[in-house]
Amino acid sequence: MKSKLNQIREEAFSLLNDESCNIEEVRIKYLGKKGELTSVLRMMGQLSPEERPVMGQLANEVRAQIEEKIASLSEIKKAKELEKALNDEKIDVTAYGREQKLGKLHPLTQVQRKMEDIFIGMGFSIAEGPEVEYDYYNFQALNIPENHPARDTQDTFYITDNILLRSQTSPVQARVMEKTQPPIRIISPGRVYRSDEVDGSHSPLFHQLEGLVVDKGITMGNLRGMLETFAKTMFGEKTRIRFRPHHFPFTEPSAEVDVSCFVCGGKGCRLCKGEGWIEILGAGMVHPNVLRTCGIDPEVYSGFAFGMGIERITMCQYGIDDMRLLYENNIKFLKQF
Ligand code: DAH
Repeated sequence: MKSKLNQIREEAFSLLNDESCNIEEVRIKYLGKKGELTSVLRMMGQLSPEERPVMGQLANEVRAQIEEKIASLSEIKKAKELEKALNDEKIDVTAYGREQKLGKLHPLTQVQRKMEDIFIGMGFSIAEGPEVEYDYYNFQALNIPENHPARDTQDTFYITDNILLRSQTSPVQARVMEKTQPPIRIISPGRVYRSDEVDGSHSPLFHQLEGLVVDKGITMGNLRGMLETFAKTMFGEKTRIRFRPHHFPFTEPSAEVDVSCFVCGGKGCRLCKGEGWIEILGAGMVHPNVLRTCGIDPEVYSGFAFGMGIERITMCQYGIDDMRLLYENNIKFLKQF
């Protein structure tokens, strides 16, 4: 029996020392319920009482040695497997990532924000007013009484006889002046409405940016200088501006303001239709009637105002020739900006 036990130990060890061995199979073969060591132990009963403890001790020794060997081999195997898994799952940090499609701001919003930034840089703050507006602020306070012909060019949508969708951002001027004594220096961007048919250059909803400065001693020279700074920052350092006389009921004198074409520089091209100039806004000195109506003394204060279309400036800047493109939410179009 002794030699049988030694043989089992030797066999088991030689099997286990082979790297390709299946440890679990060896365990079952020798230590399992029907394993070889177990069957030797079963034969213990046949031994004499003197031999029994000696063989028992040897059998236990052999079992312990095999178990220990198996345990240490299992440890090594587990460590190898872990190392392999870590190697296989290595992350290549230099590999290209999957492209994340990011949304971005609508071109109108981009242009509006750029305009806001320029004016904020010049000390303006942003004022807001309602889109559903009283006839009073949209027209009357701006020196456009009932039946004034200027209303024809700004026909809009009426909620009641005296509540409408504002046709311009100019009512914010009146609202601000009513609440604030000068100095005033605000811009007011926002949506405006007109009952226009949709075509390449008209929409019943569009956007304007209004500006208003009121203080002691404000002149047309201040207006011009401020607009020139705006135009150069917005369209480029070489941009020049030009005032053409015009009429708005709420300013006197009034002007339409052009910028030199930022594509051809003034020579004449497709964008400026050969003119060399592009009209971008209306402006003027706030009419004394408007100041007075809003509670500001025109003998003490003067001011200038201006209003421009954000669509128009966006279209010019990006060479967009049809306004409808700005509202159709066509991703292929919008992706370009
Ligand atoms: N509100 C005018 C329009 O929609 C634009 C305008 C002209 C605004 C002159 C002004 C201004 O503040 O002074 O046509």
